[in-house]
Amino acid sequence: MPGPDATGTVVLQQVRPYGEGDPVDVAVIDGTIAEIGSSLTVPEGAEIIDGAGAVLLPGLVDLHTHLREPGREDTETIRTGSRAAALGGYTAVFAMANTDPVADNSTITDNVWRVGRDVGLVDVHPVGAVTVGLAGEQLAEMGMMASGAAGVRLFSDDGKCVFDPLIMRRALEYATGLGVLIAQHAEEPRLTKGAVAHEGPNAARLGLAGWPRAAEESIVVRDALLARDAGARVHICHASTEGTVELLRWAKDQGIAITAEVTPHHLFLNDERLATYDGVNRVNPPLRETRDNLALRQALADGVIDCVGTDHAPHAAQEKCCEFALAKPGMLGLETALPIIVETMVVPGLLDWRGVARVMSERPAEIVGLTDQGRPIAVGEPANLTIVDPDRSWVVHGPDLASLSDNTPYESMTMPATVVATLLRGVVTARDGRASA
Ligand code: DOR
Ligand code: ZN
Repeated sequence: MPGPDATGTVVLQQVRPYGEGDPVDVAVIDGTIAEIGSSLTVPEGAEIIDGAGAVLLPGLVDLHTHLREPGREDTETIRTGSRAAALGGYTAVFAMANTDPVADNSTITDNVWRVGRDVGLVDVHPVGAVTVGLAGEQLAEMGMMASGAAGVRLFSDDGKCVFDPLIMRRALEYATGLGVLIAQHAEEPRLTKGAVAHEGPNAARLGLAGWPRAAEESIVVRDALLARDAGARVHICHASTEGTVELLRWAKDQGIAITAEVTPHHLFLNDERLATYDGVNRVNPPLRETRDNLALRQALADGVIDCVGTDHAPHAAQEKCCEFALAKPGMLGLETALPIIVETMVVPGLLDWRGVARVMSERPAEIVGLTDQGRPIAVGEPANLTIVDPDRSWVVHGPDLASLSDNTPYESMTMPATVVATLLRGVVTARDGRASA
């Protein structure tokens, strides 16, 4: 198990598990929830966190994070990304394989895992590449990565689509044999050559080359059929269109073992933002239209989309502050994900806090088979927890974020909720806006 060995006692006072009922105290001893009750006696030497009526959730789990180490440590490192994750309420993140060099072998995946464990702020699970060098041609040594120290359980060429149907079919078959999961970045590359924005009236008016919805949807349906025939599971990264929602609903109705995530930005933002040509808004898949936002929100509420994945994608200023079509795709996400879910799902009444726990912690942990994350808040369970003040707002300012990069699309926006503290196996990893290491 990565991360620090838990020691000592922490008492969370006046917290409301899942935002329900009267506030209670939660005593955590040696990494485990030891007692839940009203006005617990505080043992000598215990660390006290005053929740003041805030919401207690299981620690958040992100299946889709880019930490950029190895290779682009000028934009993010495992340490800075872990800090951002802890501050965002996360206790486990999956670090995507599109690093430099690519995480397509166990030397790299094991190293990412070890560095994450040494940093100790969040469980960093490396994602292994599906194909060598993300080139889409030859399967990577998935078995070696799965059986290494990191125990890789999620494989993805994210950033690129495993576009060759035969390679994807083989990958699904191998993954089934190994008991691991393939996460697909659904983008038919022949339909997105040169594309930088959602194909629609806005891109046409702005003179930007368009990325049609069908580029995503055609791969979603293809992979659903390949998974059906292989008896495999498949996970769809960052679902972004109304049509993808319909296809996921259809596939699930057929009993196909397909799961999907949605990013906070695809729930919240649309392509009207492109009018300023600010590269911060360039992302893959692109920001789409209001009807896509609304369909994705409803699908997340209904369970057609299983969970939230941040697609936290740090980039250097010089790669973002340039001509829109040259800007690298991607936006920061770890520190703003929870407040954006509050804004898009909780405030409109689409999810209650139980629902937030489901889509940001329990379902993602289940999808990848983590047994110590996304657990119930109950005596005897591992103390992977986050405390959220649903009424304390804050203003986003890129340079103040823990991430090494500043490419947040929410600059100067007011977030409606604040993470007060995060605990990983009973160790406080973030508190009052400060990470512990
Ligand atoms: O916007 C994106 N950025 N989408 C991806 O699929 C990859 C990611 C990155 O690595 O920057
Ligand atoms: Zn992607």
